[in-house]
Amino acid sequence: MNLNLCFKIRVIFYESNMRSFQYLPVSFKRCLKLLTPNSTRTLKKFSDNTEINSDMVQEFVKFSSSANNPSDKHDKQTIANVMKRWQEIFIKENIAEPKESIQHITASIIGITKLSDLAKLQNEQLSEEQLQKLEILCECRLSRMPVQYLIGQWDFRDITLKLEPPIFIPRPETEILVELMLKRMNDFGNKSCEILEIGCGSGAICLSLLQSRKNLRVVAIDINPHACDLTKENAKNLNLEMGLILLNAKLNETGNISVKKNYTSSQPLKFEQLRFDFIVSNPPYIPTQRIFSLQPEVRVYEDIKALNGGNDGLRLIKPILLYASVALNDDGFLILEIDSSHCEQIKMLVEENYAGKLQFESVYKDFNENDRYVEIKRIHR
Ligand SMILES: C[S@@+](CC[C@H](N)C(=O)[O-])C[C@H]1O[C@@H](n2cnc3c(N)ncnc32)[C@H](O)[C@@H]1O
Repeated sequence: MNLNLCFKIRVIFYESNMRSFQYLPVSFKRCLKLLTPNSTRTLKKFSDNTEINSDMVQEFVKFSSSANNPSDKHDKQTIANVMKRWQEIFIKENIAEPKESIQHITASIIGITKLSDLAKLQNEQLSEEQLQKLEILCECRLSRMPVQYLIGQWDFRDITLKLEPPIFIPRPETEILVELMLKRMNDFGNKSCEILEIGCGSGAICLSLLQSRKNLRVVAIDINPHACDLTKENAKNLNLEMGLILLNAKLNETGNISVKKNYTSSQPLKFEQLRFDFIVSNPPYIPTQRIFSLQPEVRVYEDIKALNGGNDGLRLIKPILLYASVALNDDGFLILEIDSSHCEQIKMLVEENYAGKLQFESVYKDFNENDRYVEIKRIHR
């Protein structure tokens, strides 16, 4: 595989998204310049807002197929040289976290898990095959694909999860959510706990909980079947399938959960009869109008449904409260990751609509001192 192929992959990727991207021509220009010195003539036809259509894709692909691999064969392709070159390119193209990006890509190409081990290998030569793979991933990074999707995995607390676009990439903030859950669970002693996770994505929260504590039973649901497939695969890879009930299911506006598929058992499950000691969720909570201002890594590559909290950002939080008021056991807890601007609104919703059922218990801050997590308790019936 060479850069031409990488280029085609990127073009096809963009085509499949059928969008126009302001930043795209920058990386296309760079790519085309590498491919052929006459490229700028072709590029004049396109403005920064040009929509990518299939004719253009064909043109790009035809154009790129006559070009050469740009890597300078006379350069010594040591890990240090290659990383330095790509870090400079990333900086020039305003790619976020340029150093970490090339470190993760290089580590994945040479098959090491600890970034710190890269230092020992600085003078090693990359093979031609490794170099080509690295170039492909770096070109994709130039197209703003998150590094987590490029290397196909990411660490979350003490587990490594397989990741695939567009399933939500677990964030470090969510590790604190899991810590809060585990602390609360200590109050239950060694008693087994029944837990529901709403919107499991790649399985970060539910699998991390299962990894950390024995005798849990976690029901994890997600509206997106691709997310359920990924959680199932991660559970299998981590040997955490025991204790997990995985469902492709939707929490509706009415506070009901409709199950489409049970991934763990063929036995019918009466979901409406289930009761939980904990309900946990990192729901989509970004107000719709804010999504457009997110960095391309997020708004282009991640599933919008995993981010979009509707006009007020509370689209899913409102039915979660409703469901929790019914499905939590007495003294059970709902623990949510939220947008820092929503804390007061959620407190008000609980006090106004769920008096005698739910009680707003605590709010906790994230790494940046923003209100990020809330705990809501089910009062004795
Ligand atoms: C922000 S992501 C969180 C993923 C994962 N828990 C994490 O923290 O990495 C939100 C998840 O909620 C799911 N989701 C959105 N609306 C839903 C609904 N109505 N019912 C169930 N899941 C939903 C999305 O598919 C997405 O996987």
